[in-house]
Amino acid sequence: MTQLADIGVIGMAVMGSNLAQNFARNGYKVAIYNRTYARTQDVMEHYGATAGFIPTETLGDFVAALEKPRCAIVMVKAGTPTDSTIDQLCELMEPGDIIVDCGNSLFTDTIRRERTVTAKGLNFVGCGVSGGEEGALKGPAIMPGGTAESYRRLGPMLEKIAAKAPEDGEPCCTHIGTDGAGHFVKMIHNGIEYADMQVISEAYDILRKSLGLSAPEIADIFEEWNQGDLDSYLIEITVEVLRHLDQETGRPLVDLVLDQAKQKGTGTWTVQTALDLGVPTTGIAEATFARGLSSSLKQREMAQLVCKALSLENATHEPVNDKAAFIEDVRQALYASKIVAYTQGLNLIQVGAKEYHWDIDLGETARIWRAGCIIRARFLEDVTRAYRRNPELALLLADDYFFAKIREAMPHWRRLVTFATMRGIPIPVFSSSLSYLDGIRDPELPANLIQIQRDFFGAHTYQRRDKTGVFHTLWSTPD
Ligand code: ATR
Repeated sequence: MTQLADIGVIGMAVMGSNLAQNFARNGYKVAIYNRTYARTQDVMEHYGATAGFIPTETLGDFVAALEKPRCAIVMVKAGTPTDSTIDQLCELMEPGDIIVDCGNSLFTDTIRRERTVTAKGLNFVGCGVSGGEEGALKGPAIMPGGTAESYRRLGPMLEKIAAKAPEDGEPCCTHIGTDGAGHFVKMIHNGIEYADMQVISEAYDILRKSLGLSAPEIADIFEEWNQGDLDSYLIEITVEVLRHLDQETGRPLVDLVLDQAKQKGTGTWTVQTALDLGVPTTGIAEATFARGLSSSLKQREMAQLVCKALSLENATHEPVNDKAAFIEDVRQALYASKIVAYTQGLNLIQVGAKEYHWDIDLGETARIWRAGCIIRARFLEDVTRAYRRNPELALLLADDYFFAKIREAMPHWRRLVTFATMRGIPIPVFSSSLSYLDGIRDPELPANLIQIQRDFFGAHTYQRRDKTGVFHTLWSTPD
């Protein structure tokens, strides 16, 4: 009898076939299936029969090729195709089998799917996978949800194919929590990625507009930064991108690329969730809005025309006297804003975990982001340590290590935000992160006025500093 597969992957587009190849490379027998069989044949042609694949032509054959309890990874187009594939699998699989959705699903969809699938006696695992196509192939960061029982069967295989942290060789995969926890954490990972990319872009923008540096010159600065606290994959690729010359024109390619950024929606999901849960996640929100602003072509055109007519294009031109000190201000502003963005993102995970009854270990979450994923960075080693010191830490930036860093950054950061504001250079995340910090540490916020305004127009009541209880003033009469 032919050997059964340890695991199966449905969907042979790039992510699915790379994931399947990763399992096979790690010694697993992998059943593969794609709606259009030609694609499965392409994969077989490309990787050959030696890859450890069992190609299957129908979903029935696919299920029959799997060792029990069966593990089937779904990696098809998000939305209805994922739902219909899961429905078909439910008809073909048996109690105890596990359906794993490794796509970028919204966590509330995962919660819904888990309910439907478990009602049929099967297990469902919503699993976040980060690292793009290359990560899927060579070792991604993996964030599985679902039950502990499912993780016992699936976890060892996922840990085997996951990236290994350079610091200690530990796999970047852990059981995040039940039902939608994995996709929830993956969503916030992506939101943080938006903020991370935006702060790097703000630094680039200030450096080019204030110092007149070329893209390769800025690459040199980033390369130096990459030797210290900011050491990360995103800075590393930025260096490479900024040095890349367009073959046709010989100019830096980045200078030829339109300044209009797109998004696939995970940043928006994160912000929507943050709003639903009432968690101030300004870094991710501003980063998401910055992409939206860049693509608001009509509005940008109008604003540019009006400003030109009023000669408002250029704000004050403060000269930069000490170039090295200025570059350090930019670096510190970037680093401090990054600490704030992570503080907010991790806070969102904490609040979400409470709301959805997940037991999420933030130290473990940071640990598995250290390699394989897009936000991988030395920084995450420090975040892991902070949560190891205090697993209940409610505010990352209040950790001794990070607070010392924020304190050191503070004068640089304030100077830079002031400079960019006077100069008219947009720094949505640098400045909103500073405002967040000023707000969160302020013992005298103006929310007293908001409370009382609400009571005035809507009888919403207010609380007082000097007495306990809830109060309402009859505003038409003297108090
Ligand atoms: P691509 O542009 O790479 O083809 P896609 O259209 O998002 O990406 O499809 C990704 C995967 O989902 C493919 O494996 C696709 O199967 P086909 O090769 O047959 O198109 C699969 N897919 C899309 N819609 C599907 C559906 N309704 N049922 C099952 N699989 C589907």
